[in-house]
Amino acid sequence: MEILKRIYQNAQKYQKRIVLPEGNEPRTLRATEIVLNQKLAQLILLGNPEEIYKAAEEIGVNIEGATIIDPKTDSNRGAYADLMVEIRKSKGLTREEALELLNDPLYFAPLMIKNGDADGELAGAINATGDVLRPAFQYIKTLPGVSVVSGAFLMFVDPHFGHDGILVFADCAVMPDPDERQLAEIAVTTARTAKAIVGMDPRVAMLSFSTMGSAQHPLVDKMVNATRIAREMDPELKIDGEMQLDAALIPEVGRLKAPDSEVAGRANILVFPGLESANIGYKLVQRLGKAEAVGPILQGMAAPINDLSRGCSVSDIVNMVAITANQAAALFE
Ligand code: ACO
Repeated sequence: MEILKRIYQNAQKYQKRIVLPEGNEPRTLRATEIVLNQKLAQLILLGNPEEIYKAAEEIGVNIEGATIIDPKTDSNRGAYADLMVEIRKSKGLTREEALELLNDPLYFAPLMIKNGDADGELAGAINATGDVLRPAFQYIKTLPGVSVVSGAFLMFVDPHFGHDGILVFADCAVMPDPDERQLAEIAVTTARTAKAIVGMDPRVAMLSFSTMGSAQHPLVDKMVNATRIAREMDPELKIDGEMQLDAALIPEVGRLKAPDSEVAGRANILVFPGLESANIGYKLVQRLGKAEAVGPILQGMAAPINDLSRGCSVSDIVNMVAITANQAAALFE
């Protein structure tokens, strides 16, 4: 896959510092060995050093070259606690509470980034999405002008579809029930991600069970309004909706159901109406359609922090380290 090759080459070039809070998790350790061998990034593993080395030895992986930091004893704890208290002043966070939170690698990692000691974070092999994201939302926050973090997947499908066989799905990971403004923002930020990472010319389909007014329902209105708001946010963006999945992807159906659309029949970005349909949708395509799914790539955060599915494989982790490193390079240089 050309795209992944390019992502790996960029990662090798920039050598970003990626922190992995699940430092003694076996798939993470196996991925660490591969990332270091392929020189995709500098890695920081969080946890008790003895436990990490023991876990690595047990599965026979070499993690020499990784930096290991114990959040419970690290000399930066004081500085990080001060930062936390400053950032959460309005929430009344005390220094004692901050120091307690820093024992948790999922809090320690975003603070490393905030303090300039790491460039990106990847976690989620053994932690639920919410537990990975909450500290990131609280301490890293969103990019200026963005209010919503969302998660996109690159889906490697049949080459007849999308951008040479790549479709981008969103939001498959974060917002359970986005309103129309949030959906518009998801559409605009996903188009930016697709452009930056895949180099595609975005054509965004706002999905529904109706195409161009074939059904009347408040859920349909929501996608129509989201499309309108997205156009206001980015007048250059090729976006259309509401439309059904077949109208978005199949040229003959697109021509029939939405003859005037520049997106219908050749969409390369699919924005789903909510997290239920998006998360189920990407897993259907991945598991039944045998598509490789790379992501979720979190977008809209002020620094690159990505979340893995707990069902992830070692190669998923390696791919996501490379993607996180690419995001760090684009954000910080
Ligand atoms: N973007 C930016 N900030 C956000 C977002 C968002 N999408 N959602 C919440 N926040 C912020 C809030 O503003 C708040 O900030 P504050 O403390 O400074 O005021 C903070 O995060 C916590 O907000 P809550 O509303 O309390 O959020 P909560 O922790 O209840 O939920 C969460 C956030 C965990 C992300 C929730 O939306 C969630 O669980 N989403 C589903 C995740 C999931 O399970 N995905 C599917 C699996 S992923 C996969 O399969 C690949």
